[in-house]
Amino acid sequence: MLERLEEIAQEVESSLAQIDSLEQLEELRIRYLGKKGVLTQVLRGMGGLSPQERPLVGKAANEVKARIEGALTARASTLKELEKARRLQTERIDVTLPGTRQFLGTKHPLTIVREEIEDIFLGLGFMIVEGPEVETDYYNFEALNLPKDHPARDMQDTFFFGPEVLLRTHTSPVQVRTFEKTAPRVPLKIIAPGRVYRRDDDATHSPMFHQVEGFAVDERITFGDLKGTLTTFARQMFSPQTKMRFRPSYFPFTEPSAEVDISCVICGGGGCRVCSHTGWLEILGSGMIHPRVLEISGYDSEKVTGFAFGMGIERIAMLKYGIDDMRLFFDNDMRFLAQF
Ligand code: DAH
Repeated sequence: MLERLEEIAQEVESSLAQIDSLEQLEELRIRYLGKKGVLTQVLRGMGGLSPQERPLVGKAANEVKARIEGALTARASTLKELEKARRLQTERIDVTLPGTRQFLGTKHPLTIVREEIEDIFLGLGFMIVEGPEVETDYYNFEALNLPKDHPARDMQDTFFFGPEVLLRTHTSPVQVRTFEKTAPRVPLKIIAPGRVYRRDDDATHSPMFHQVEGFAVDERITFGDLKGTLTTFARQMFSPQTKMRFRPSYFPFTEPSAEVDISCVICGGGGCRVCSHTGWLEILGSGMIHPRVLEISGYDSEKVTGFAFGMGIERIAMLKYGIDDMRLFFDNDMRFLAQF
C-alpha cells in the first residue's frame, strides 16, 4: 500500500506538467483528492490492514495528500501567472490612438431664445413666474374680459377637456393668477414664459408652442413705459439699430392695444421676401391692461395702471435664426438641433 501511495503521488506530479488551465487542474484535484478520488479509494482499503501497519500507512497517506495538495497549489499559482502574462500580451492597448469623441448635447434653440428673453427682462427688473398649462375657462378667457359669447374666443382654437377645463391658449392667464395673489400691492413687473396650445398645425403653426407674457402694474404706468420697455427688449434681442412700430390693434384684455413690429432683421427695412416687402415684422401683441381685468382680480383701476404684452418664442427664434418652418423645432432632427 505504501508503494501504491508513492505511485499516486508520482502520477499526480507527472500529470501536472501537462495541465495548462485552472479548469483542468480542478478536474485533476477531484480525480485524486475528491470524495470518490483515487487517494480516497486507497484509504478505504485501510480497513484490511493490521494494527501495526495502519498508523504507518495512515501517516504516509497524510504525507502524500499534503504533497499532492502542495503540488496542485504550486501549479495553480504558476498557471495564474501565465494567464496574467498572456492577458498582458493580448490586451495591450495603444495609448497613442485618438480617443472616441464624446458629443456634448446642445441647448434647444427655443431654450436659448427663452433664456435670452428672460435675461433681458431680468435686467429690466422683471421677475419670472409660471402658471399651469391646464387652465380653467375663467383664467384663460373670462377674467381676461372674454365672456362666453365673445367672438375673439374663436381666434383661439382651444383644446377642451370639458366645458370649464382646457389647455391654455396663451400665457395671459398668468396675469390674472398673479394679480389675485399680489393685489393691491404694487409695483409688479413679471414675465411668464411657458407652453401654450391651439388646434393648429402647418408650417407656421404648431398645436403646442411657447409664449412669454409680460406685464407691469404700478401707479402712473403709461403707454410710454410700454414703448420704452419693448424698444429696449427688441434692440437687445435683435440689434441696436432695430426700429419699432406700434400699430393700433384690438385685444379684449388691453385698451388701448397695439401690435408691435420691428424693422426687418433680414433687409433692415428696405423690403425683402421675409418681410413680404413691407420692411416690417410683427413680433408681439401689447397694450394697457384693461381696467376690467385689473378690477376683477382685485386692483383699483382708479389708482393703478399697467401694461402687458405677449410674444411667441418660436416666432422670435425663427426671425433670429432665419428658420422658415416652425415644425423644425419639434421634429428633433439632430442635423437641425446640432446647429445651435
Ligand atoms: N394673449 C395674446 C395671444 O395670444 C397675446 C397678447 C396680446 C398678450 C396683447 C398680451 C397683450 O398681454 O397685451 O395671443
